[in-house]
Amino acid sequence: METITGTDIQEARRWLREGKWVAVPTETVYGLAANALDPDAVAGIFEVKERPHFNPLIVHIAYWEQLEELCPEVPEAAMQLAETFWPGPLTLVLPRSEKVPQIVTGGLETVAIRMPAHPMMMHLILSCGFPLAAPSANLFGRTSPTTAAHVEKQLKGRIPYILDGGPSEIGIESTIVGFENGNPVIFREGGIPSEDIREVLPDIALRSAATDKPNAPGMIKEHYAPGKPLYFGTADELTKHIEARAYALISLNDHPLSQEASLHIMLSPENDLRHAASGFFEAIHEADDSHAEIILIERFPDEGLGRAMNDRAIRAAAGSQA
Ligand code: TXA
Ligand code: MG
Repeated sequence: METITGTDIQEARRWLREGKWVAVPTETVYGLAANALDPDAVAGIFEVKERPHFNPLIVHIAYWEQLEELCPEVPEAAMQLAETFWPGPLTLVLPRSEKVPQIVTGGLETVAIRMPAHPMMMHLILSCGFPLAAPSANLFGRTSPTTAAHVEKQLKGRIPYILDGGPSEIGIESTIVGFENGNPVIFREGGIPSEDIREVLPDIALRSAATDKPNAPGMIKEHYAPGKPLYFGTADELTKHIEARAYALISLNDHPLSQEASLHIMLSPENDLRHAASGFFEAIHEADDSHAEIILIERFPDEGLGRAMNDRAIRAAAGSQA
């Protein structure tokens, strides 16, 4: 299949109406979209990504009536978050209506919904008239894409169209909030720092890695792995992994290992975690494409978007042995 990259929203809509897949820009990362109400089209997303199981997908909407259609009962706490953060990098897991196909939710009685804040994506959903189911537009287990070029690298030849909306501004996936026994819980840290969520819901729980139930529905671990060994930690921990190999180093600011690095990507000389997050996946892609043999990522401060980056880096490093 020939893959075309362009900025033509009508062309993207044409493919989606035919039940095909289009990579779409969002403010967090690029998504691999299909008509959320067409089970065959949604099934194709899993084939394109080579995802081994039917992990539930996020449904992207552009206006409030779409929320009512997909989720007839929205808890008050969810409504408060939606009103504060939509459109934006927040996903809400809510009880679903009959209209949501089973393949979208992996058979769950809940559906994940997000109103993304990217003008091209908004236009696309409005002009389609149906919501778009979309996971991140990477192959299963690989690094999330934040540019059309990242998508091409992984999905060229598998989808007809990539809608190019420029680099993703936030650069890290949405924060996911759901409910357990009626209480709000942060399922995944992401583009909206938990500190900001707590300003709206002070008592919200965070499902930490320690209490993470890997087999709970919808919480299958993502890996984010690049093609090269990747290590994550403090300067001391990272030093142990070098073993005379050429390394690419990704750090927030100056770093003791930067002198000897074959490539050093400083994410934010001003120590701005938001700015750092916007270039985070881009840095992993660049390090992966460089001549370095291994990739080192410095641990970020455990606050704001630093926690979301630490989470992604831990997962990206999970498959690499010393
Ligand atoms: O920013 C984002 O969220 C991006 C852009 C494209 O919107 N999308 C994204 O999708 O990160 P994906 O498929 O890579 O991650 C979706 C996450 C998965 O961890 C999935 O398990 C969870 O959402 N999820 C989806 N439906 C769920 C449900 N009903 N209950 C619990 N978790 C759910
Ligand atoms: Mg993903």
